[in-house]
Amino acid sequence: MSNLTRREMLERSMLAAAAAVTAQGVPSIAMGFQAATSANDKLGIAVVGANGRGGEHIDQWLKRKDCEIVAICDVDENVGKRRIDDIEKKTGKKPKYYQDLRKCFEDKDVDIASIATPNHWHALAAIWAIQAGKDVYVEKPVSHNVLEGRRIVQAARKHNKIVQTGTQCRSMGGTIEAIKFLKEGGVGEVKLARGLCYKPRGAIGARGNYDVPASIDYDIWLGPAAKKDLSRPKLHYDWHWQWDYGNGDLGNQGIHQMDIARWGLGLDNVGQGVLSYGGRFGYEDAGETANTQVCIHDFGDKKLVFEVRGLKTDRYMGAGVGVIFHGTDGYVSLASYTGGAAFDKDGKKIKDFNAGGDHWGNFVEAVRARDYKLLNADIEEGHLSSALCHLGNISYRLGSPMAAKEVQEKLGNNAERQETFERFAQHLTDNKVDLGATKVTLGPDLKLDGKKEVFVGELADKANPMLTREYRAPYVVPDEANL
Ligand SMILES: NC(=O)c1ccc[n+]([C@@H]2O[C@H](COP(=O)([O-])OP(=O)(O)OC[C@H]3O[C@@H](n4cnc5c(N)ncnc54)[C@H](O)[C@@H]3O)[C@@H](O)[C@H]2O)c1
Repeated sequence: MSNLTRREMLERSMLAAAAAVTAQGVPSIAMGFQAATSANDKLGIAVVGANGRGGEHIDQWLKRKDCEIVAICDVDENVGKRRIDDIEKKTGKKPKYYQDLRKCFEDKDVDIASIATPNHWHALAAIWAIQAGKDVYVEKPVSHNVLEGRRIVQAARKHNKIVQTGTQCRSMGGTIEAIKFLKEGGVGEVKLARGLCYKPRGAIGARGNYDVPASIDYDIWLGPAAKKDLSRPKLHYDWHWQWDYGNGDLGNQGIHQMDIARWGLGLDNVGQGVLSYGGRFGYEDAGETANTQVCIHDFGDKKLVFEVRGLKTDRYMGAGVGVIFHGTDGYVSLASYTGGAAFDKDGKKIKDFNAGGDHWGNFVEAVRARDYKLLNADIEEGHLSSALCHLGNISYRLGSPMAAKEVQEKLGNNAERQETFERFAQHLTDNKVDLGATKVTLGPDLKLDGKKEVFVGELADKANPMLTREYRAPYVVPDEANL
């Protein structure tokens, strides 16, 4: 399905017209811009998944004069219809409503799919949209597993589509400036970045068998996942904490900080190895993912350490949700979406970074220019950072529960590993988790071929199948040959 969309045909003819006029001395950029933003040349947007985050997508698109929300797609009819009514109140025009994304992607008025479904749908929704000729803005993490993330990149390149990842910090002036400062050696050599997702999360209620609200097409909601009854009280949002649909806080809040950490360290692959430990401590509920977790990503001479804390906690070096880059001459702490600060070795602040940005605007600019290299968060960046979260979870899920003392011993004689573990254990003790009686899950130290995105070595046979999932027909991510 590589037909040109209405938008692409329009833009190609505009470019041709602009080139013709340029020959007569009129600047082509001015021409093109004027034509592209005229009132009846708006990009048609479909917001796919319109609940929590989808609401923010709607607000962002409504702000833009060069775009129009032409469709809302949500498997929950209540959510979808509420949104189209709201949009009609605000704009006087009612977008179309679709419950099934396949129908939505057949709509020729749709130029862009703006995807904010649960994680297990991101890759397939993005790939189907790309195959139907749409450009895509897809929320983070872009995938639910490593392989399907790579498939979106391949589909985007094959069909020449523009695909932006919803890691909006990539467009924030303060973060951009801080990363530049780091790369110019502002705090010396940086070999260690520590991502922090310190964000208290409560229990989600007991595991059970709950009724699916009648407004929801549950077969489509489940999509690629196995057919199972609803086992958590709240269908929306709380899927983050069940493995079939979510990736824990590592792949929820954490992916933003994982992405900044990887960006700042200048890493363009998924590394040489990964190890993770943790558990779901402090309560028993329908959730399965770790609420307290450490991941250690090995990049040879560089390390990326990631800490998730879902129980009450103090900040670390001034950051709760943030990234600390440890340099030989000081450190940079990025503890807000719009930046942070640099400090010298004595902890004295030497520079502030604080500026916003327009992630949606950056996407539209790249769509208009038909150039993915203009994107601040191209799908390949989104894929690599999402993959790091999935790899950490694979080590964790292959782990075995054991006494905290044993975990500490197995982490070996490495100062950084020991320091991180001691803070992890202290944090749990502060939350009244009795580490004498409670086991900690320690995953294996897995080895990777970071460029090929596969596990190698001893445990590769066990770990490689976890790079993908068993897809439930017809919700199957195509293999490379069928993208
Ligand atoms: N970039 C950010 O800062 C940011 C912030 C919050 C959430 N997010 C991401 O946004 C996504 C959505 O999060 P949320 O909190 O809104 O979740 P949610 O569960 O509240 O909403 C998801 C919506 O998608 C709908 N849906 C499910 N499958 C669908 C399908 N196949 N087609 C159409 N609609 C479908 C659901 O009915 C629901 O209305 C998540 O992946 C999350 O990681 C990003």
